[in-house]
Amino acid sequence: GEELRQLVASRLRAIPDFPEPGVVFKDFTPLLRDPAASRAVVADVVRRRAGAVDVVVGIEARGFILGSVMAHALGVGFVPVRKAGKLPGETHRVSYSLEYGEAVIEMHQDALQPGDRVLVVDDVLATGGTAAACCQLVEACGATVAGVEVVLELAFLHGRDHLPGYDVVSLLVDEA
Ligand code: PRP
Ligand code: MG
Repeated sequence: GEELRQLVASRLRAIPDFPEPGVVFKDFTPLLRDPAASRAVVADVVRRRAGAVDVVVGIEARGFILGSVMAHALGVGFVPVRKAGKLPGETHRVSYSLEYGEAVIEMHQDALQPGDRVLVVDDVLATGGTAAACCQLVEACGATVAGVEVVLELAFLHGRDHLPGYDVVSLLVDEA
């Protein structure tokens, strides 16, 4: 509820002009540093998703931190989606556009089975390109995206428009 949102908001730090002039970076390391706050975030996701997901997929790099603790708390396994060239086995690959240029992410082909209900986890939903590409990887395995969980949604970038039909839940929404 509102109490949790306020707690989380108090543990995000706005850093102006990072990574480039004009951008205000929302740093969530203070949230990770506070055990009560990070436990509250995980508990909120568990309350919403327990029993409804079989696997958590986390997106390199910040999605690993949140996704792995959520998988542990939910009692399900964790699958990493990694930037290109990092995974040793056979992979599915998806390329997507960033503000400047392209990125490629990969997931092991045998990481998910058809019918698996997958929770996609990341820290921030910005343009939505990363999360949408991750959903494509899940579906390339024949698995189902049960939902997408992020701590912070930058709503002015309209990332949800890239995730039509998905159950996208953000703890906090920045409107501007
Ligand atoms: C950031 C953030 C999300 C993504 C959101 O990751 O952690 O994964 O951008 O952006 P989008 O919605 O516009 O795709 P980044 O690629 O900076 O890398 P990191 O997690 O490894 O720091
Ligand atoms: Mg990221």
